[in-house]
Amino acid sequence: MKIGIIGSGNMGRSLGILWAEQGHQVFFGSRDVEKGKAAAEFAGGGTQGGTNDEAAVFADVILWTARGIMPTELLSNPEVLNGKVIVDCNNQDIPEGFAYPAIVESLAQKLAKDVPNARVVKAFNTMAQEVFELAPEPLKDYGVSVFVAGDDEEARKIVMQLALEIGFSPVDSGVLRNSRLVEGLADFIRLIMIGQKQGPYATISVNILPAAQEQRLGGRQASSLK
Ligand SMILES: NC(=O)c1ccc[n+]([C@@H]2O[C@H](COP(=O)([O-])OP(=O)(O)OC[C@H]3O[C@@H](n4cnc5c(N)ncnc54)[C@H](OP(=O)(O)O)[C@@H]3O)[C@@H](O)[C@H]2O)c1
Repeated sequence: MKIGIIGSGNMGRSLGILWAEQGHQVFFGSRDVEKGKAAAEFAGGGTQGGTNDEAAVFADVILWTARGIMPTELLSNPEVLNGKVIVDCNNQDIPEGFAYPAIVESLAQKLAKDVPNARVVKAFNTMAQEVFELAPEPLKDYGVSVFVAGDDEEARKIVMQLALEIGFSPVDSGVLRNSRLVEGLADFIRLIMIGQKQGPYATISVNILPAAQEQRLGGRQASSLK
């Protein structure tokens, strides 16, 4: 795939390198053309670098790492995103005391509102950069979930495949509205990592267990709660 990175910081650099290693064509974009080029030089593997505008034009799939900055603010021609998959990995800043406000509208929903003809998918926001350093090996042995939420099913599948290739376990999380829950999960894991001092290797995995052979607790009964 042709992948464009908007904002060549920690997330952009890490995911860009990992996808380039899987044979994708990656273009690192930045507000500063020299920074974009330097990211490509660091990444190697035939990657290119330049401006965010160039990355957006180049790519079929775009990683959006500029938190809270909308395409209509950042790109000279945001229509170039029409029909493209935009992966939103952003999380809100951590507030004092981890007292997060309730998420009424997610960052991914705001992005989708700004470019309604793009296919926005929430993903890669529930683990720290340090976890990407383990990818794809030995990461794949640990079944770390990447929650993938977006209204376009094909776009979700594309992003799930990109997650799988670099050693994560993608979890189809349904429509974009669910990105509010996925962003809430990121708030929770950051509480555990930082607030509860478990460190950046604390991760979230969804495990599908085998059913009990015998329902010795009586099994699930109809609830009397209304
Ligand atoms: N780091 C993690 O462990 C991690 C994990 C999961 C999710 N996230 C989320 O992913 C997002 C990116 O995190 P990061 O760690 O990659 O941050 P970062 O290293 O600061 O990179 C973000 C990039 O966004 C661009 N940017 C910043 N301010 C901008 C502005 N005013 N206008 C346009 N572009 C701007 C910059 O790119 P240029 O300087 O190249 O233009 C910057 O390098 C955040 O929302 C974060 O919460 C981070």
